[in-house]
Amino acid sequence: MLVSYHRVDELGVITINNPPVNALSHGVRNGLLEAITKAQADDSQAVVILCEGRTFVAGSDISEFGKPIEAPSLPQVNAAIEASEKPVIAAIHGTALGGGFELTLSCHYRCALASATVGLPEVTLGLIPGAGGTQRVPRLIGAQAALDMMTGGQKITARKALSLGLIDRILEEPVEEAALAYARELVAGGTGPRRIRDMSIPADSFDGEAFAAYRSMLGKRKRGQESPQIIVDCVEAAMAKPFDEGLVYERACFVERTQSEQSAALRHIFFAERQAPKVLGLNKTTVPRSIERVAVIGGGTMGGGIAMSFANAGIPVTLLELNQDGLDAGLTLIGKNYGITVSKGKLSQEQAAARQALISGTTDYEALASADLVIEAVFESMDVKRQVFGHLDQVCKAGAILASNTSYLDIDEIAAVTSRPQDVVGLHFFSPANVMRLLEVVRADKTADDVIATAMALGKRMGKVPVLAGVCFGFIGNRMLRQYAREAQLCMIEGAEPEQVDGVLTYFGMAMGPLAVGDLSGLDIGYKSRQALTVAQKGDPRSYVIADTLVEMGRLGQKTGAGYYRYDPKTRARSTDPEVLAVIEEQASKYGVKRRELSDEEIIDRHLMALINEGFRILEEGIAQRPSDIDAVYVHGYGFPSYRGGPMFYASRRGLKAVYECVENLYNRTGEAHWSPAPLLTKLVESNQTLEDWMANKG
Ligand code: NAI
Repeated sequence: MLVSYHRVDELGVITINNPPVNALSHGVRNGLLEAITKAQADDSQAVVILCEGRTFVAGSDISEFGKPIEAPSLPQVNAAIEASEKPVIAAIHGTALGGGFELTLSCHYRCALASATVGLPEVTLGLIPGAGGTQRVPRLIGAQAALDMMTGGQKITARKALSLGLIDRILEEPVEEAALAYARELVAGGTGPRRIRDMSIPADSFDGEAFAAYRSMLGKRKRGQESPQIIVDCVEAAMAKPFDEGLVYERACFVERTQSEQSAALRHIFFAERQAPKVLGLNKTTVPRSIERVAVIGGGTMGGGIAMSFANAGIPVTLLELNQDGLDAGLTLIGKNYGITVSKGKLSQEQAAARQALISGTTDYEALASADLVIEAVFESMDVKRQVFGHLDQVCKAGAILASNTSYLDIDEIAAVTSRPQDVVGLHFFSPANVMRLLEVVRADKTADDVIATAMALGKRMGKVPVLAGVCFGFIGNRMLRQYAREAQLCMIEGAEPEQVDGVLTYFGMAMGPLAVGDLSGLDIGYKSRQALTVAQKGDPRSYVIADTLVEMGRLGQKTGAGYYRYDPKTRARSTDPEVLAVIEEQASKYGVKRRELSDEEIIDRHLMALINEGFRILEEGIAQRPSDIDAVYVHGYGFPSYRGGPMFYASRRGLKAVYECVENLYNRTGEAHWSPAPLLTKLVESNQTLEDWMANKG
């Protein structure tokens, strides 16, 4: 029985029981409709809707999206509940999200435990509330608050919901007893149904100008995303149209959304994130090691952020630096970063202080003896890393996990300096480490299964998206990034200006263009790493001479006020710099490149194909477990637009044959080895298979 109905004295009680999260499947909708019909027929005075298990209805059944919806639909169920002649009260515990919260909006009163949260997160899946949310929420709390809630998609605590007017009462536990008492109170007071459909939004509360301003704000904050704008359309409709017409309008928009490309992409990413921590072939009985104390070596850019990530998850951290000055600098920076979070209102002073108190400093390796996990984040140099791991091998307890945050270096070589290579793993965080969600977990040759299982569990505990990678130069993300960054350089020397390259890619949806990213992180980083390479290792000079020349001119990026662009010292606003254009032209003529006009389409294709072709190689070599893992890496670590689903999803949607032809054309035109179509791509196209077919065959 997914939904049951029983009487408790003068009250009718409808109970939903569809574990694990009481999703609104077809069976639940059917059961609700039957139960509310039954309740109308007896002599109950009011009806309470509540849920068994750990939560109220946490949402619709996502597996039904994109398919024809079987009647009764949620709007039909909601209409029946709202029409009830007896007051209907929703009693919320856990979370009431999406369709689950819309269900409560069709009830006449809403009460919730203080620990409960509510929200309409549809926008995060490229959807909109489709069962009355966009029509009822503005009637309840006004257009502005409704727009903020629905375009933001965030969860709202019960107390906040009460203050906004989304719910009517906070309950004490246990939820059922308290909800029934509330219902009896309403009955005793002679309170009848109160239908949101009959409420009106103050007509002057949000006018045409306010809507236009809201749209333009969303255009910046949610650049490229369709759903937030459609939510605005629906709220406008709520103000302009009678309730039933507004509902019809909303439903049509919702159905269109479920079939949209953006929603398909966002749902793909939703599942990709949940799949990624699952390690194929790992014995299910593998028990993760317990991690209670962590140490981080190196308090620079990454070490500080990594330490904060652990403290944010409530795990005590010891930070080790070379000397007291380095340590002081690292700890001061951490304090400053927490200060910024407090000033943005994201943490209270007390919360920030409690987290900071979990981070202690040392310059003595002996202090690491009790750590369950040590993460090294020192300079990117094999010699330095080997030295650090040698020390760790001497002081760390047996069973401690020894991890490196290296961006490119060979984890096997690092592991080899220890007497315990089975305990060594790569844990590659992304900058800023306390913000970015991606965590590449790099499995070396001898890494033990329980170390991998621990890393995955820990990543999830920290709110990260852990993705398994194999050892190679740059693992998944940075290995692909090299190909992408090379195209940015080549497009410049062949004829594009920095602004065109960055403009086209941000228009596509990348968080930033590749050249602006270079200016932000510092052009000296790439320069230094190239200095360590031989001429042959550096490859085609056209792919780095512009960058090298700029560095040699002292243009290191934002920190020196100039890189590919010039930066205003006060506002940091960037502008085109004729000096850079002169450098590009000079280098082009030096290397015999005849500059020409590049179309936007060519620029976008070259960058995406560079990622995709390398992605296929990475898959075939087993460096990534699945195409969706690569997508999770790019969305969570490299600013790839989630509404495009990641590079491999993009490739699938464009069609592997079309991708192959594009890569092959580039190969034929340039003769460059890196453009030779990846063998896996070729194989799939020749056998007319998709990436899903390939995954399925892989088992
Ligand atoms: P950084 O130069 O900001 O910090 C390195 C810190 O390590 C310095 O504070 C230095 O004093 C300390 N250090 C050096 N040798 C040490 C030793 N033997 N013992 C203790 N401390 C020592 O460098 P950053 O950017 O934090 O990079 C660290 C590692 O993280 C590198 O392997 C880098 O490739 C990797 N990484 C960097 C990312 C970035 O965006 N900066 C992103 C992901 C990984």
